[in-house]
Amino acid sequence: MCGIVAYIGQRRAAPLILDGLQRLEYRGYDSAGIGLMDSAGSFELHRSVGRVAALAESFEAGKISATLGIGHTRWATHGGVTVSNAHPQLSCHGQFLLVHNGVIENFRELRQFLVEREYSFASDTDTEVLVNWIEFCYRQESGVGIGILPQALRKALKGVQGTYGLALLCRDFPGTLLAARNGSPLLIGVGKEEHIVASDAAAIVTHTSQVIYLRDRELALMSGDELQVSTLQAEKVLTQVCAIDWAAEEVQKGPHEHYMHKEIHEQAQAITEALRGHVDERLASTRFGGIEPLAQELRGLHRLIFCACGSAWHACLEAEYLIEHYARIPVEVEYASEFRYRHPPLARHTLVIVVSQSGETLDTLAALAEAKRRGCSVMGITNVIGSSIARETDCGIYQHAGPEMGVASTKAFTSQLCLLAMLAIHLGRLRDLDYDEGLAFLRALRELPQKIEETLRLEQEISELAQRYAAHEQMLFLGRQTLFPIALEGALKLKEIAYVQAQGYPIAEMKHGPIALISEKCPSFIFETQASLFPKTRSNIQEIRARRGKVILVTTPDIPCDAGECEEHVVVPKTHPALQPILAIIPAQFFAYHVALLRGCDVDRPRNLAKSVTVE
Ligand code: G6P
Repeated sequence: MCGIVAYIGQRRAAPLILDGLQRLEYRGYDSAGIGLMDSAGSFELHRSVGRVAALAESFEAGKISATLGIGHTRWATHGGVTVSNAHPQLSCHGQFLLVHNGVIENFRELRQFLVEREYSFASDTDTEVLVNWIEFCYRQESGVGIGILPQALRKALKGVQGTYGLALLCRDFPGTLLAARNGSPLLIGVGKEEHIVASDAAAIVTHTSQVIYLRDRELALMSGDELQVSTLQAEKVLTQVCAIDWAAEEVQKGPHEHYMHKEIHEQAQAITEALRGHVDERLASTRFGGIEPLAQELRGLHRLIFCACGSAWHACLEAEYLIEHYARIPVEVEYASEFRYRHPPLARHTLVIVVSQSGETLDTLAALAEAKRRGCSVMGITNVIGSSIARETDCGIYQHAGPEMGVASTKAFTSQLCLLAMLAIHLGRLRDLDYDEGLAFLRALRELPQKIEETLRLEQEISELAQRYAAHEQMLFLGRQTLFPIALEGALKLKEIAYVQAQGYPIAEMKHGPIALISEKCPSFIFETQASLFPKTRSNIQEIRARRGKVILVTTPDIPCDAGECEEHVVVPKTHPALQPILAIIPAQFFAYHVALLRGCDVDRPRNLAKSVTVE
């Protein structure tokens, strides 16, 4: 949430920072700003409401010769969407310029403290409080030389409660950039005589693949091409330079109009990457090198708890059906934000699994910390190598789905579904799942990318269908068993990018409430791929149509649906039951995408949302 880009080096900073901000826009896009510092220590500040493109149009970035600067794209927390609340924020006496991601929880107390000392404020933000608090601490320091700067920042940050990822400039030290993190991601790209600080790798990969991940309570001081990292306790940190495995073109749209469209079409590839190296024909099972440290524990598991948010939570709900069915291990699925403040009994032999595309969702990280505090081993499933979740879990599995830039998750979701199905079979084979069942799953897994490609060919049919439903303001998504999480995800997609009131429900539960919504104005999107249960679904369809509700039905070819039984019938290929949800969600992804386009919505930047939610 909020994107930070800062640059120090030999190149002109402004165009580079703007380009980086554009790549990070999925982290927040209500306002943006950039602050530059020349070699004499003068600041130049540009801020505007709206997208980064509006900021770029407001001044001539190419003409500014400064080679040091900080930039920000905002997702408002404290204070409305106004220019004065946009970052960077300047301190009262003009000494510091700050961009900040996170929330300063004690900002009221700090503000009061500063007001009493004649500090004045021009915005409603906690960031302005923080920059003034830093200035105050700096002014209290005695001494000369660059050392005073990290010293003052440490002192200030020790007095702060909350989370921050920040980049800071000080007028008194024109060739110096500071960065610090606690709870909000920040990494430093290391180039030739240059450093690029960013909230995530998307802003860096086009310049360098070498990065340093800052950890919580660490700060970095960059001057010239030197970098020093230390802790808030002033201990020196030996940094480790890691390689990002994303190619620069992966963060570009290519021929697609939107990232979401590109990512829907990348799902076969993402699944191919998810399978790579994880298929064990000899044992008729799947294997994961990354979870070897827990091999012993996995055999004796009594209970699994999944924690996640958003689409990742839907993927976990799918895992509950699959793991309980194939591995016979009791599973619970918790919203990470609920788990962290609950006090659930966590008996021995309970493993906690956190699932997060970004690996940075604050609520999920907090659930992880709570599970560890309670003595549980924690496994992670994440797409971003080196992310906080990847680093803080005991072991884990990487999705390798490639960067996901669209705010609405698509390929990361199906890749999670695939890995969780593979995990279910892995756990099943460690227990009493039959050899032949293992083999049947592996066979289906190998054929899956091809079947995804076949499903993607439905786009034209669904875009035409979308035209008939785009004007509806409400919709139900219904499915049973493994297709219930798919109904939830289908509803979420439509809600988040097309702003249609959409609800996901277990289909048989419909008669206990949602049926009251049904009319010609509220169509239903129904998933059914189990032939044995189709008679039940058919009854539900009739109940809907008897109330003038229209039905879009997604089935496999074996479902005996007669012509005229529903308004629209979409057929996806048949696969193994554990993998069928992956194919079933694709029509709903296309539906949401095309309805959103027809309604004139900004598909990649839906209002009020952000891709990486690093606040509570
Ligand atoms: C946000 C995004 C969702 C995502 C959720 C969890 O709400 O808009 O697409 O599913 O965060 O994100 P994570 O990175 O933890 O999977």
